[in-house]
Amino acid sequence: MTALAPVITIDGPTASGKGTVAHRVAAALGWNVLDSGALYRLTALSILRSNTAPEDEQAVARAAQSLEVVFHPQGVLMGGQEVSEEIRQERVGNLASHIAPNPALRAALLARQRAFRVMPGLVADGRDMGTVVFEDAPLKIFLVADVSARAERRCKQLIEKGISANLDDLLRDMRERDARDINRAVAPLVAASDAHTVDSSNLSIEQTVQSILDLWSAVRGK
Ligand code: C5P
Repeated sequence: MTALAPVITIDGPTASGKGTVAHRVAAALGWNVLDSGALYRLTALSILRSNTAPEDEQAVARAAQSLEVVFHPQGVLMGGQEVSEEIRQERVGNLASHIAPNPALRAALLARQRAFRVMPGLVADGRDMGTVVFEDAPLKIFLVADVSARAERRCKQLIEKGISANLDDLLRDMRERDARDINRAVAPLVAASDAHTVDSSNLSIEQTVQSILDLWSAVRGK
């Protein structure tokens, strides 16, 4: 039997820095990375473009199934078109969080996510990486940061990109999105029972990455 590639899962609320941290941990280990939120965002973008009703659960699941996606080091292509910037828009993220409770959609994305698990290893970030998609991962991280620290980070990021942003609106959206992710019936945002919680509110990106690499060294040395 072929051994399964090791996986480090990084779950946590929106804008907790999961994406940046996941990419840096993956780069340090020479591993692959899965940004699972991007798959929900791509589905959201696809249904926006096709005018599919978000409430039509089967149609949304079909849209996810038929996504033609290519991840590349600088971003992601959908149907051959660069959509990296577009899927980062707040309206796409909000729609992604509205459709995310749909069980048919989550089932449609499961195999696609698991296909990323290839040697030498995978760092997967999202909401249910450690609880559902890679339940057997040898290292699970639950990355948190207080909501005002997250809103400030997101605001700064948007302004740096030349996109106008309002801190109060971001805070409100973030609280609503957290509540939807935490309270949904299917694959809610929750720390796996065997996850290590890392609070990045007062940590730099480098310190957060290092704390995860240290945890991995400890797991590997067992
Ligand atoms: O992580 P990101 O903000 O890009 O994810 C967008 C939305 O997709 C989240 O608010 C969440 O509702 C959903 N999502 C999810 N499960 C994942 C990743 C993202 O439900 N594994």
